[in-house]
Amino acid sequence: MGAGIAEVLAKSGLDVIVREINDEASAAGKARIEKSLSKAVEKGKLDEKARDEALGRLRFTTNIADLADRQLVIEAASENEEIKKSIFAELDEVVTDPEAILASNTSSMPIIRFAQSTQRPERVLGVHFFNPAPVQPLVEIVSSVLTAEDVRDTVTSFVSDVLGKNPVQADDRPGFIVNALLIPYLCSAIRMLESGFATKEDIDAGMVGGCAHPMGPIKLTDLVGLDTCLYAAQSMYEETGDPATKPPILLSRMVDAGLLGVKSGRGFYEY
Ligand code: 3HC
Repeated sequence: MGAGIAEVLAKSGLDVIVREINDEASAAGKARIEKSLSKAVEKGKLDEKARDEALGRLRFTTNIADLADRQLVIEAASENEEIKKSIFAELDEVVTDPEAILASNTSSMPIIRFAQSTQRPERVLGVHFFNPAPVQPLVEIVSSVLTAEDVRDTVTSFVSDVLGKNPVQADDRPGFIVNALLIPYLCSAIRMLESGFATKEDIDAGMVGGCAHPMGPIKLTDLVGLDTCLYAAQSMYEETGDPATKPPILLSRMVDAGLLGVKSGRGFYEY
């Protein structure tokens, strides 16, 4: 998601710094963005000049202190609350502009917990993109109980006017709008598969051919990432106790096995 979000920002004309955890992750993120932009050129959606300009607006670092002068930071670390909280605490230390906005792309975790890791909780909110970020038009704007109205309004205008995406307002509740509906659906599909009710191909064909979804739920879990689905389900189940969000055992076992979907080359399907 981080690479996709960085691509969207750079294509919108913004100066972007991508902070990764190590040089390998930085190189992989950069290669992913280059490939995606070059594919857009091949398809005639972008000219070479625009691609090179977008790439020129991106800088990569492993040092969080390089984010000191940023006006907006979007955290897109993996769905681990402790990691995200420590990133917010570090950002609070290094980002110097008191007006800067600190956002999280979390799928389902409470924004208020990240806000409370900083001394500026009113300037923290959720800005949730959808996979693949360069394609999906929606962005959920998630205000915590402490997010300032002007911060919410500034980010909402930024998402629509600068990024050209469609913002919707969501409450800081488990799964916000989309994942509150999507995660139970994906978990049900995986339960259907693990109980031997139907094959993955037929489950996917059912939702594509029967309900006109662009892809079926098993393939979509592979696209989103099995780890992301698992952590989103776990955090929603922990807070709500809703059995529809209880992570299926098959999902946990596959994540333990490193079968994370498209990003690892194998999930329910092979890539
Ligand atoms: N980056 C940039 N562009 C991409 C892309 C990527 N990673 N993947 C696909 N595209 C573009 C293609 O270039 C193509 O553009 P074109 O129509 O202008 O030529 C267009 O998207 C369609 O792609 P394809 O023709 O290759 O394939 P499909 O028609 O099968 O579309 C899809 C692929 C866009 C992924 C489509 O299947 C889809 O929309 N699937 C559903 C995705 C979805 O539901 N996402 C939400 C997940 S939930 C989430 O992310 C939240 C999280 O918190 C869990």
